[in-house]
Amino acid sequence: MTGTGSAPWWQGASVYQIYPRSFADADGDGVGDLTGLDHHLDHVADLGVDAIWMSPVFRSPMADNGYDVSEYCDIDPVFGDLATFDTLVAAAHGRGLRVLLDWVPNHTSAEHPWFVDSRSSRDSVRRDWYYWRGGDPATPPNNWRSNFGGPAWTWDDTTEQWYLHLFLPQQPDLNWNNPEVQVAMHETLRFWLDRGVDGFRMDVVHLIGKDPALPDVPERLVDRHIAGWYDDPRTHPLLRGIRSVLDEYPGDRVSIGEVNLRDPRRLAGYYGDGDELHLVFTFRGMDLGWDAAGWARLIDEVGRDLPAQAWPAWVLGNHDEKRVRTRLGSLRRAEVLTLLALTLRGATFIYAGDELGLADADVATDRRVDVVGRDGCRAPLPWLREPPHGWTGATPWLPFPPDPQQHSAEAQTAEPTSTWHLYRDILAARRVSPALRLGATTRRDAPAGVLAFQRRFGDETRTVVVNFNDSAVNVPLSEPQVRLVDTSRAPGGTTYDDVVAAESAVLLCPAHPPPLHGELDLHESAPGVGEA
Ligand code: GLC
Repeated sequence: MTGTGSAPWWQGASVYQIYPRSFADADGDGVGDLTGLDHHLDHVADLGVDAIWMSPVFRSPMADNGYDVSEYCDIDPVFGDLATFDTLVAAAHGRGLRVLLDWVPNHTSAEHPWFVDSRSSRDSVRRDWYYWRGGDPATPPNNWRSNFGGPAWTWDDTTEQWYLHLFLPQQPDLNWNNPEVQVAMHETLRFWLDRGVDGFRMDVVHLIGKDPALPDVPERLVDRHIAGWYDDPRTHPLLRGIRSVLDEYPGDRVSIGEVNLRDPRRLAGYYGDGDELHLVFTFRGMDLGWDAAGWARLIDEVGRDLPAQAWPAWVLGNHDEKRVRTRLGSLRRAEVLTLLALTLRGATFIYAGDELGLADADVATDRRVDVVGRDGCRAPLPWLREPPHGWTGATPWLPFPPDPQQHSAEAQTAEPTSTWHLYRDILAARRVSPALRLGATTRRDAPAGVLAFQRRFGDETRTVVVNFNDSAVNVPLSEPQVRLVDTSRAPGGTTYDDVVAAESAVLLCPAHPPPLHGELDLHESAPGVGEA
């Protein structure tokens, strides 16, 4: 790529989220693993993303599928070991893919040695590493409720006190007010940074700062998921401490915050003065669905309310939510929103399997695994058309999504008009375009039900028109344009005739000068790490 100076790689990056249990299984136990992932890295590199993020692979009793960590500095045996991890990182880097881990700072597993020690005695040296409070065994210390339901407190008979957990009782909250906790958690980051990882998605990182008095929350908030509104100023110095650890390392290591707040004005604070998180998820796009005006408002708010230098992180799906196709009830609409999310200013996250056009699996009651029913979006990826779809050995831990033949990687990569090829074309156009990766956004006037905007970097412009209506619309533009990608499958390279088909999106570039060399050759390989 040329003309973008020395911008860090993560600005305008595309990141592919892998749920390792469901991606690919090499050892035949029915659960995905790191070697399976390694074997399918070409699928990811061919797609044309910049990075992969793996949901947690650390040692864990798996009460919350790895979001309950019992050892931060090791790989759980179900996924492999440190040697398979190192092999995977080298293989990913060799293909030009950065590697991001999922760091879980708010809580450990109840089986983590720190908590085992902490709960063993009121005099434990690690007692204060978690939140312990006394009182009456019938009345929790405050009115906080767990994000998974029920009180956020569990009474522990050993020492006859309560401990705090904003998620499962098996996930006790770490007390980040204790400097020893900060030091110990910083060390867990260094462990992986030393092994060459490029950064971290940070799980519910906005929850780590807490008022040690743990006051009741106002009654109106008691029944709302605490992660959805919690916003304590004590988190910010802690984020600066975390950031300073990343800044000890060369190579633009990145921090991406899972901050579940929806209002960009509140997300703004998590960037600090450029000294806290690098990227913060903008989850509101997942709530919006098929809503032209809602997207226009969100784009405007993000542009206005985030600090000028801040980079948003767009997301349409992840391991906690129904897949975008299932939420919208339409693959066509899911593809349109994907073109939108991948052309907005900021980093964009793709949830593995969405590029195959997958819908959520229908998981029968007796096969449910997750405590709060998030299994449908975590179903195994079908690699091959024929059963068992590349999952040889034991039956996979969850059933396959619907139509695994048609939505297998084998079928999708073979069919030129598939969802996979659409994703690949959008990503290829984005990769070579400074305007799409780094350019400013200007929204354009458009007819009702249509969203239009331009991205510009230097002299380069790209225009996006999204038609949410169920009939074609006329959207004339001031200069002649050529289609780079059209979700209605009008071929790239054709002249834009001012018409956008029903429920479709187009990515356009000016007809003069002609597209950059390579821009219509959408199938070149990803750049090597460091070249982007
Ligand atoms: C985050 C994760 C979710 C997990 C929770 C507790 O929201 O995305 O999967 O259950 O944190 O760690």
